[in-house]
Amino acid sequence: MVSRWLLGVFVLNGVVGAAGAVDARRGEFGTLADGRKVESAELTNSRGMSVRILALGGVIQQLMASDRNGKVADVVLGYATAQQYLDQPQYFGATVGRYANRIAAGKFKLDGKQYQLETNDGPNHLHGGTRGFDKVLWKIDSVSSGSPAKAVLSYVSADGEGGYPGKLEVTATYTLNDKNELAIEYRATTDKPTIVNITNHSYFNLAGEDTPVDVFGHRMTLFASQYTPVNQTLIPTGERRSVAGTAFDFRQPQTIGARIRQGSDDQLHIGRGYDHNYIVDGEPGQLRPAARVEDPQSGRVLELLASAPGVQFYSGNFLDATSVGKSRRVYRQGDGFCLEPQVFPDSPNRSDFPNARLNPGQTYVNTMVLRFSTAPQAS
Ligand code: GLA
Repeated sequence: MVSRWLLGVFVLNGVVGAAGAVDARRGEFGTLADGRKVESAELTNSRGMSVRILALGGVIQQLMASDRNGKVADVVLGYATAQQYLDQPQYFGATVGRYANRIAAGKFKLDGKQYQLETNDGPNHLHGGTRGFDKVLWKIDSVSSGSPAKAVLSYVSADGEGGYPGKLEVTATYTLNDKNELAIEYRATTDKPTIVNITNHSYFNLAGEDTPVDVFGHRMTLFASQYTPVNQTLIPTGERRSVAGTAFDFRQPQTIGARIRQGSDDQLHIGRGYDHNYIVDGEPGQLRPAARVEDPQSGRVLELLASAPGVQFYSGNFLDATSVGKSRRVYRQGDGFCLEPQVFPDSPNRSDFPNARLNPGQTYVNTMVLRFSTAPQAS
């Protein structure tokens, strides 16, 4: 990309933008086995941060961020080719829906009517089923440079698709500014009462996807005093448990790995690590701090702000060396962590959990901000 500075304005591909503007461009990522082309959008700021989004699943395929010495690395797990995203079920970087996370036995009731969704995770429904939002081609509506730069993707899910009622019209808007903030906002409307829970399923490794380092040494803070323990099939029991005095307490920074092998806590055994919904402190609906994660080696810091009531913290427990990533890295347990802002798992079956219902005339909104920075070397 040729860019040159000219009296406080810069010229990008013939477009004159104000200083601080972030570059955006469309591209083509590849072709699926059935011949369909997968378009992409790439947003790049002047501080070394960039994000590549695929029309397939709205996947964040690459996210570059600088370390404390200005060295840029890709901090998300993912694949080199589009087809792998369809063939392998880890949801790397994907938009998940209609209902992210689990619904017990795939059943829920709405206005007295019983619905049966696909059971694709043992006895339960997970992430919208085998052909959820991560597996479909979205439309890239617009890609625009500016401050911030923006990519807007949309998908229309037909009435009854995946077993869910209502025609759901969804947009996913990704913006990147010059403060190294990547914002993702999901919006949806419906023509019949339905349930919605859409999130992004990026696996982060702040050391860099191409390093052989796992995330157990990352220091994490979760702004959450309670979490929802689960049964043997990872469905919440209904309890809201205090994190105090447990391996789930990240209110003060702790490394992800420090307590992950604490077998005295049943929950870590059931989840094979952390795979739990945290109840984010503060007012749901307001963008508020949900997490801060720092890699002490590289100094990269990720702060997550979220509007959702909960955040699923997943420590990459099901990565079992069966998939090979972009840099030919074999992904093993703990190679990435996910923080997925969402309503609680199985909310449609629990009246005391946040509401996942969407009525005609209402707009579902889920907003999250991923803010990247660096921290100095600890002395
Ligand atoms: C979510 C779930 C995990 C797992 C991953 C995908 O985060 O909570 O249990 O299914 O998706 O592998």
